[in-house]
This record gives sequence, structure tokens and C-alpha cells, in this order.
Amino acid sequence: MSRHLLSVDSLTRDHVDHLMRLAARMEPIAQRRQVTRVLEGAVLGNLFFEASTRTRVSFNAAFCRLGGSVCDTTGFTFSSMAKGESLYDTSRVMSGYCDAIVMRHPDQGSVAEFAAAINVPVINGGDGPGEHPSQALLDLYTIDKEFARLGKRLAGAHVLMTGDLKYGRTVHSLIKLLSLHDPMRITLVSPPGLEMPSHLVDLVASRGHRVEQRDSLASDFSDLDVVYTTRIQKERFTEEMSESFAGISEEFVVNRAFLDQRCSDTTIVLHPLPRDSRPGANDLDVDLNGDPRLAIFRQTDNGIPVRMAIFASLLEVDELIEQELGPVRWFVPKRLGVDDREL
Ligand code: NCD
Repeated sequence: MSRHLLSVDSLTRDHVDHLMRLAARMEPIAQRRQVTRVLEGAVLGNLFFEASTRTRVSFNAAFCRLGGSVCDTTGFTFSSMAKGESLYDTSRVMSGYCDAIVMRHPDQGSVAEFAAAINVPVINGGDGPGEHPSQALLDLYTIDKEFARLGKRLAGAHVLMTGDLKYGRTVHSLIKLLSLHDPMRITLVSPPGLEMPSHLVDLVASRGHRVEQRDSLASDFSDLDVVYTTRIQKERFTEEMSESFAGISEEFVVNRAFLDQRCSDTTIVLHPLPRDSRPGANDLDVDLNGDPRLAIFRQTDNGIPVRMAIFASLLEVDELIEQELGPVRWFVPKRLGVDDREL
């Protein structure tokens, strides 16, 4: 694996399999049944120049659960970039303070530019509409785990991606990651103007997958294994687009009726979150809350073992994990959410 994690492009199938196995080994720690101090003394720099809750906090928590400490900075306002500092300078400065850096930035390519200046591992936590590789890894880990429970296989699976496929960086990384696997069927449904970039569609098709683009959810999805739905990334629209975009229509909403009428009992629903729950946003419907097919909170929980695996691999402590385990001494509830189901 390369020094940094900037794009799924740097991962081979072997790297991905290794990270998935490593994440599974992190589960006892992530589920707060055991503790490790394997990264004791290490410091993570979390640099977030765009809004974030789960990515920032889960990277932070994952590093802490490995025994490390975290320095956090959010927004441009309180960073030296507001004084005109270049990515190069900020990068070199941060490498003197931290052993790993996670960065989120509104410009595509900016995290790679930042990483090019240093040898300390950098993880892309989202670069504008570019990529979000750690999210794709946790999405894949979730699919693998859910499929194991349901007795399904990824090879030959049918995956639907819907919502903003143009600006949604999570689907850009995920479609590349899925394409490293045995052929499957991928259906893409987006509102007009928000289609998946054609170079990604072509890449996935060239790797032997069956890719189909549709403009509506109103068809038979009874063989569907996964629906991955995303938020409309309005913050990335040009002024012209914002003016012409009347909002996402109700036809694109993934809700209980869609799942009951068009999908099956074993179709799982994923979303990178946040979902926009404001009236008229027509994002993933809350009427699926409590439905076992809704895997979104199992998906967010999986962010911890997967991000721990990424750190352990980049900082080369993956072989030390089992040697370091100790007992948990504090109270941990059996079920985290009141709506969580025993599956
Ligand atoms: C996404 C992101 O920031 O790309 N969220 C996340 O990291 N889980 C998706 C989004 O903002 O819609």
C-alpha cells in the first residue's frame, strides 16, 4: 500500500482484502470489549476545512481507540490558510507535529497536493467532489458484513446507486472499489444533470461489470441486493445550476414503499450520511427507521474498525494488535441505539 491513502486508485484487490481482514480484527476494540495502546505516543492531525461530523469524529475516535492522541482543527477561519498560507507550507509544518494527517478540503486534488510535500501518511477525508476512499472502504466492509449475515456473495450482486452521482465523492470512490471485485451488476439512477461522470462508468464497464444508467426508480428491483443512496450536494452546484435546480423530485426518494413494492426483504439500504431531513429535500426517508433493511447506523459504526485498520496499516502496527489487547473497565451498553435490532 502506498504511504498515503488519497484515492482508491492506489489500492489493489490484495490491499483491500488485507484492510477488510484487519478491520475485522479491530472489532473487539471498536465494540469496546477490549483496549489496545498500540499507537501510544502517536499524534493524529485532523484538518477539516469543510463540514463534517462522522468522518472527523470517527477518524479521531479510531486513532484514540488505538491508544493515540488527536489534534483537531476545523474550518479556514481559525487556520493560517486564512492568512494566505499555501498547502505546501501547512503540510510541512503539520508533518513536524503529527504522525498521521487526515484532511478534508473543498477543492478536488488539494489533499494530494498537500500530501505530495511530506512523508507522514495523509488520508483523504474528502476533496471536494473528488474522492472519499475511507468511506468507500467502510461501505464495502458493511456490504461484506451484511452479505455474510444474509448468506449472499458480492460476485454477481446487484447494487443500485442513486442521488447525486455527479458531485457525491463517496459514490466515486465506491464504484471504483467495487470494480476491483468479480463482475457484478451496477445500476445508476440520478436526477437529470447529476449523472455519474462518464469516465467512471467506462472504467467500471471496462473491468467487466454490467453498468446500466436509468432516469427513474420506477421499475422492478426485485433482485436488488444493495441500494446506496446519497444527498444532493447543493453546496457544490455552480450558481447557474442552483438557479435552475428546482429540487429533487419525490420519484427519487428511497422509502418504505419503494423497498416493499419494488425490492425484496433482503435488499439493504446504505447512505454515507448525513441525510437531509428538511422538508422538500427528498433524501432517504425516515419512514425506514427501525426497519432491519436500513443498515445506515451499522454502516456508521463500521467506520471505526475500518479507520482503525487504515491507521494500523499506514503506521505499520498491524502485526502488533493482538499482543496489545487488555480488558475494558467502563460501562458499555449492550445495544447502542434504542431502535437497534439484534440481527
Ligand atoms: C459525505 C461527504 O462528506 O462526502 N459524508 C461523509 O463523509 N460520510 C456525504 C455528504 O456530505 O453528503
